[in-house]
Amino acid sequence: MRNLLIVLSFFLLAALASAQSQPQLNLMPMPASVQPGTGQLPINQSFSVAVTGNHDASLDREVQRFVAQLSRQTGFPFRPKSGVAPTLQIHADHGREAVQKLGEDESYELTVADSGAKLTAPTTLGVLRGLQTFLQLVQITPAGFAAPSVTIKDQPRFPWRGTLIDVSRHFIPIDVLKRNLDGMAAVKMNVLHWHLSDDQGFRVESKKFPKLTQMGSDGMFYTQGEISEFIAYAHDRGIRVMPEFDIPGHSQSWFLGYPELSSGSGPYTLEGGGMNPIMDPTRESTYKFLENFIAEMAKLFPDAYFHIGGDEVDGKQWDANPKIQEFIHAHGMKNNQDLQAYFNQRLQKIVAKNHKIMVGWDEILHPDLPKTIIVHSWRGQQSLAAAAKQGYSGLLSFGYYLDLMWPAARHYAIDPMSDAAATLTPQEKSLILGGESCQWAEWVTPENVDSHIWPRNAVIAERLWSPQEVKDVASMYARMNAVSLDLEWLGLTHRSARLHMLHRMAGSADISALRILADVVEPVKDYNRWSDTKGPIDFHAPLTRMIDAVSPESDTARHFSDLVQTFAQSGYKDQAAEAQIRMWLATWRDNDARLHPLLDQTSLLQEDAPLSQDLSALGAAGLQALDYLDKGQPAPDSWKTQQLGLIEQSKQPMADMLLMVVAPVQQLVEASAGQAPHN
Ligand code: ACM
Repeated sequence: MRNLLIVLSFFLLAALASAQSQPQLNLMPMPASVQPGTGQLPINQSFSVAVTGNHDASLDREVQRFVAQLSRQTGFPFRPKSGVAPTLQIHADHGREAVQKLGEDESYELTVADSGAKLTAPTTLGVLRGLQTFLQLVQITPAGFAAPSVTIKDQPRFPWRGTLIDVSRHFIPIDVLKRNLDGMAAVKMNVLHWHLSDDQGFRVESKKFPKLTQMGSDGMFYTQGEISEFIAYAHDRGIRVMPEFDIPGHSQSWFLGYPELSSGSGPYTLEGGGMNPIMDPTRESTYKFLENFIAEMAKLFPDAYFHIGGDEVDGKQWDANPKIQEFIHAHGMKNNQDLQAYFNQRLQKIVAKNHKIMVGWDEILHPDLPKTIIVHSWRGQQSLAAAAKQGYSGLLSFGYYLDLMWPAARHYAIDPMSDAAATLTPQEKSLILGGESCQWAEWVTPENVDSHIWPRNAVIAERLWSPQEVKDVASMYARMNAVSLDLEWLGLTHRSARLHMLHRMAGSADISALRILADVVEPVKDYNRWSDTKGPIDFHAPLTRMIDAVSPESDTARHFSDLVQTFAQSGYKDQAAEAQIRMWLATWRDNDARLHPLLDQTSLLQEDAPLSQDLSALGAAGLQALDYLDKGQPAPDSWKTQQLGLIEQSKQPMADMLLMVVAPVQQLVEASAGQAPHN
C-alpha cells in the first residue's frame, strides 16, 4: 500500500512537472500504478497492431473494435505499412472463460515508449481492459495525436463492478443497452444487472409462461433470441449479464397473466398506484410455477448469479389474507419477515438446483439462509457490514443511485469499505465483492437514459476499480470530463441528446439563450420529482420538459462556484477571477430579455419563465455585489435584505429544477455587505 502511495504521488508530481511537455493523463478509472516516462508515441495513419500468444475469435473482434474506435477518435483511416514493426504489440498468456467468472483475472501491463507500445496480460480479459486504457491515453498534442510514454500495471480493486439498468418502468431497447455496454467496457465495468421485471412491465419472453409478456407488458419486451445475442455482445466486452426478477414484491406485472400467483384478488394493472400486490408464498403452486420459470431463465442467462429482488415487500396483502395469516401461525412464524425468509429459503433451493447463486436486496438478510447467497445493500452501508459480519458476501449500491440526481463528487465519496464496513475484520472485508450503480427508470426514456447514466457512472467505475487512495475531486472532474467526450465516440448520446431535446422545445428558434439557462439548472434531487407528482406516475407520458433534457450535474455552476471560491480566497482581490465572474453574471442578467420571447411561444417552455427571471435577477445582484466590493464600502442593509429575499426565492424548485448558481451569488452578496461567507 505504501509503495502504491509513493507511486501515485510520484505520478502526481511528475504529471505536474511535465505538464508543459506531456499531456495530462486523462485515465478513468485511474490504474493501480502509473509511471510516466519521457517522450510520446505518435499515432498516425500507419498505426498497426500485432497479436501474439493466446488468440481467439473474441480477441480478434476486440482488436477490430479497438482499431475502429481509435480511428473514430483520431479521424485516421489507418493504412498500416507492411514490413515495419507494429505500433502496438499485444500478448495474452491464456484465453477467457466461455462464461465469464466472478474474479477472473483482469490484470494487464501496458508500456508505451516513443518507438512502440506493448500490452501483456495473463488472460485475454486483461487485454480488453488494457486496450481501453490505451484508447484513453491517446490525445491530441502540438505534434499530432500521441500516447505519452508510460508504464502501467493495473488490476481491479473489486471483482464486481456493475451497473443496474431498470427496463421495466420504461422499456429500453437493445441498441440503447448495447451502447451503454460499450460505455461500461470503456470504464472497465464488468456486470450489467438487468432489472427485467417490476410492477410496470415484464420484459423477457418466456416460452413456458407466454402471458407474462402478452399481458404483463405493453408489448415491449426482449425475445429469447435477442437476449442471447445481447449476452454474447456483453461477453465480447468483458461484461457479465445478471438478470433480476424481483419477487415477491414489485411483481404486479406477473399477475395480469397469472393471477393465481398473487396473495390479493386484483384487478391488476401496469399503471401503478393504489394497491401493492405481492406473491402468495403459502401455496405450493407458486413454487411449482417458480421451479418451471427459473429453470427456463437459468438456461437463457448463463451467468452464475441470479437476482431475485426481495426488496420493499409491502405485507398489507399478507396481513389482509386470512389463509396467509393462518399459514404464518401454523408454521410458528412471528411475522411477515419470517414468511419472506421462508419464501427465500424455498427460492434459494430452486435457484441452487439450477446451478445458480442467489442474489437479493438487503431485505433478504436472514440467518436461515445459507452463506452462499449475496446480499445487495441499497438502504444503507450498515447492511453491507451486517451481512459481512454474519458471513455473507455483499454488494454496495447505497450511494450509487444515479436516479437521485446527485453530483458525481457525492457518489465518488462513497467507498464500499467506508462507514460501517471500516470496522470489519480483514476476513469480513474480503466478503465485500464490490458494487453497482443503479439506473431506475421512472423518469427516463431511451432518448435521455444515457445522460442519466453518463458521465457520472465513470466515477463510480473508478471507485470500484482504482485504489482506495485515488480520491482527489478536482482530478476526478477533469478526467471525468475528458472521458465523457470519448464516450460519445462510442455512440452514447449523453451530451448530444440534450441539444436535440432543447431544439424540440424551441421549434426552429435559436436556442443559444435557452442553453445558457439549461446550463445552470439541475433536476430536483432524491425523490422530490416523485413527491411533486400529483397521483401515480403516468409511465406513458412524454418526458420532454426542460428537466428531462438537462444534465443531472451543471458543469457551468460548478466552474462558477470554483471561481467565486478562488475570488474569496484572494480576499476579493483576484482581478482575473473577478473578470470571469462578471462575464458570467452579465450573461445571466441579460439572458431573460433574450429568452423571454421564446418562452411564450412554446408550450414546453412556459413553465420555465420564472426560472429565467430569477437567473437574470441573480446576475444583476451578483454584479451589484461586485461593484460594492470594488468600491471597498459595505453594501447598504436595505439592499442586502432585498437581495437575500430574492436569493431565498431562487432556492425554491421551479418546474422541478434548481438554479445551481444561487449559493455563490449569495456568497458575493454577503461578502459585499461585510459578512463572513455563508458556507
Ligand atoms: C430498491 O431500490 N428498491 C432496491
